[in-house]
Amino acid sequence: MIEVKHIKKRFEDTIVIDDVSSVMKAGQCNLIIGTSGSGKTVLMKCIVGLIEPDSGEVLFGGESFTKMNRFERTEIRKQIGMLFQGSALFDSLTVEENVMFPLNMFTTWNYKQKMERVNEVLDRVNLKDTNKKFPSELSGGMKKRVGIARAIVLNPKYLFCDEPNSGLDPQTALVIDQLIKEITLEFNITTVVNTHDMNSVMEIGNYILYLYQGKKEWEGNNKEIIFSKNKLLNEFIFASEFLKDAKEMRMLEETGKIPNDRNIDDMIGPTNLPKGGA
Ligand SMILES: Nc1ncnc2c1ncn2[C@@H]1O[C@H](COP(=O)(O)OP(=O)(O)OP(=O)(O)O)[C@@H](O)[C@H]1O
Ligand SMILES: [Mg+2]
Repeated sequence: MIEVKHIKKRFEDTIVIDDVSSVMKAGQCNLIIGTSGSGKTVLMKCIVGLIEPDSGEVLFGGESFTKMNRFERTEIRKQIGMLFQGSALFDSLTVEENVMFPLNMFTTWNYKQKMERVNEVLDRVNLKDTNKKFPSELSGGMKKRVGIARAIVLNPKYLFCDEPNSGLDPQTALVIDQLIKEITLEFNITTVVNTHDMNSVMEIGNYILYLYQGKKEWEGNNKEIIFSKNKLLNEFIFASEFLKDAKEMRMLEETGKIPNDRNIDDMIGPTNLPKGGA
């Protein structure tokens, strides 16, 4: 579990994170969503200590990361896996060297032990037989999977993914989402994902924190989001007419009621009403 308490961060005169609090649970995909510039990456970096917040506190497993000294923080960092936007693989290293990198940094294992673990995680992300390839020889989705393999190689308690779907087609994005979800459940990881991908929200959003101009505007899960009346959230997440219709149809299915002042005729047309429908 990760607790975020009253985090504030400003860059010169601009407040970027404004008093954000949240609890992120183990075995769940905790999403941070919001438009570009809303503060997702800065908040994630404040949580993992890559940016020092101006005030507030972050606790990992009940222990205050904020109050720890450098050595204590290193111990927590060993329990954190991070998938950076764009995967951030080392271009001059092969796939297996990239994945082995954290093991070289943080363990005293011998080569055979490290290779076994590398093969285990590459197998887990469905990337057998790519050991000797370089990042330039991989597709975008494969690079993300190598990034995930590297992020989980130390068996982390906490996994942070900044925009894991950026640059991927919707189908590959779904595969990556499912992989993150499976790994989260399988190893009971507290996973935090920054995204603005609507599919991710619906597929893996156990907990969703919606940031608007650095403030927590809404929080809930992917069921509650359908029923939310928060105007800013709805404008963001159900931006297109198509998605607005999809939301209303889902509400209609679940409640048997037409949700709001939008007319059913506007949604599906008067001649296409479902049998026994509205
Ligand atoms: N090091 C920095 N110095 C000054 N301003 C910064 C710095 N890092 C981020 N910002 C500002 O903080 C705000 C939030 O940025 P952030 O990168 O967190 O947005 P984001 O929600 O991750 O956006 P995106 O979806 O585009 O990745 C932006 O206005 C950005 O310009
Ligand atoms: Mg970002």
